[in-house]
Amino acid sequence: MNDTTTIPILPVLSAAGLVKSFGGVVAVNEAAIEVVPGSITGLIGPNGAGKTTLFNLLSNFIHPDRGRVIFDGEPIQNLPPHEITQRGMVRTFQVARVLSRLSVLENMLLAAQQQTGENFWSTWFLGGRIAKEEREARDRAMEILASIGLVEKAQDYAGGLSGGQRKLLEIARALMTRPKLILLDEPAAGVNPTLIHQICEYIGDRNRQGMSFLIIEHNMDVIMSLCDRVYVLAEGSNLAVGTPSEIQTNPNVLEAYLGQ
Ligand SMILES: Nc1ncnc2c1ncn2[C@@H]1O[C@H](COP(=O)(O)OP(=O)(O)OP(=O)(O)O)[C@@H](O)[C@H]1O
Ligand SMILES: [Mg+2]
Repeated sequence: MNDTTTIPILPVLSAAGLVKSFGGVVAVNEAAIEVVPGSITGLIGPNGAGKTTLFNLLSNFIHPDRGRVIFDGEPIQNLPPHEITQRGMVRTFQVARVLSRLSVLENMLLAAQQQTGENFWSTWFLGGRIAKEEREARDRAMEILASIGLVEKAQDYAGGLSGGQRKLLEIARALMTRPKLILLDEPAAGVNPTLIHQICEYIGDRNRQGMSFLIIEHNMDVIMSLCDRVYVLAEGSNLAVGTPSEIQTNPNVLEAYLGQ
């Protein structure tokens, strides 16, 4: 029998009809996006296209005026960001948000703690268990720092890291939450070429272990080398979607960039 039926793969993340206005400015206008499990999906577009705002809507750091977001088969657009993180979707920021006066290791442990949603009483009643969890979190943090090349900086203040190392620390912190999907907002911006290469290798490695990524990036080499599929946003709306080479030769995309 010539069976041509294929089983559809459900996206790990799918959003449709997303709208967000700030006063008179429509930053995101009926945008839609899908991330296939195990993929590295790119999100590009000229400055001010609405990419970061779209990330804010997907992770509910900003509530959309309209639209829906489905993660892992469940609607999440009404969940607080920490609950979305707990479910396995975590995002980083265009300007890395590390806590400068804490050590690199403390930054990592805080990311794990925020996920468990600890409070005073749970610490009081579950003292023994917490100590064990803390030890485990510490081991895990050191393991991730070693894998990402920051283990020698573990005891240093995060404030003393270079811009590129801060980007690495943000990715490392995101990994503490054991995500299925990581949203990275310009992981290569302000990073030197050697470190960009290291970040790309790292993303590729994690992807081969099954982690999905959605990446905003202006560095086209990064997009071309990493992504399976690329979405182009312009003036808040979807302009194109395709493989990196399809996008590279799409005249509408070129026009959107030249016209910015
Ligand atoms: N909190 C806000 N208040 C008012 N306007 C905003 C806010 N956030 C974003 N905007 C506006 O929404 C539009 C989209 O901005 P956004 O930061 O999402 O773009 P972007 O595609 O991430 O750009 P870049 O590539 O420069 O990072 C811009 O016109 C921006 O000025
Ligand atoms: Mg942005």
